[in-house]
Amino acid sequence: MRLKRPALLLSLLSCSSLCLPVAVSAADAPKGNGHDAKTALYTVVDGNKVDAKTLMGWKTWRAMACERCHGPNQEGLVGPALVNSLKVLTKDQFHTTITQGRLEKGMPNFGGVKMVTDNWENLYAFLKGRSDGNIMTGHLYPIPGK
Ligand code: HEC
Repeated sequence: MRLKRPALLLSLLSCSSLCLPVAVSAADAPKGNGHDAKTALYTVVDGNKVDAKTLMGWKTWRAMACERCHGPNQEGLVGPALVNSLKVLTKDQFHTTITQGRLEKGMPNFGGVKMVTDNWENLYAFLKGRSDGNIMTGHLYPIPGK
């Protein structure tokens, strides 16, 4: 009898560690209607294939792990939902925010990171595409033949 309790506890623990990733991956599932769009900032095909610059913007987002605070779908966590912010912020304000940070409010300063200073406009284009609802969440790919 004494051995049964730890076994029960173990099975509960393994459930909580297995069930959580399932819930998270459901939230990460691609969303959007997979359409084509072309604006002055970005080109997107099927919602998940983008021009080379926008792809670099997405890669910068991933490399900097902006999702830790802004969420994997840019819909906010401890930091604001950038899908909303990008409807309001000017390009200049965006630039200032990521290169100077808002340290007292928890937004780090990426101004010393070459990948960000080289790609901030690409990052802006990617986030605009998300905010416009033209770029889907999830993995992005190059446009074939480009
Ligand atoms: C450690 C957490 C954290 C990380 C990592 C982070 N941010 Fe933020 N970010 C924040 C917080 C918190 C704010 C809100 C600051 C405020 O209240 O003004 C913010 C604000 C912003 C804003 C302004 C939003 C608005 O509505 O004014 C932008 C744009 C932004 N972040 C982009 C990024 C990008 C791009 C990255 C990755 C290169 C990134 N952030 C990484 C925490 C983070």
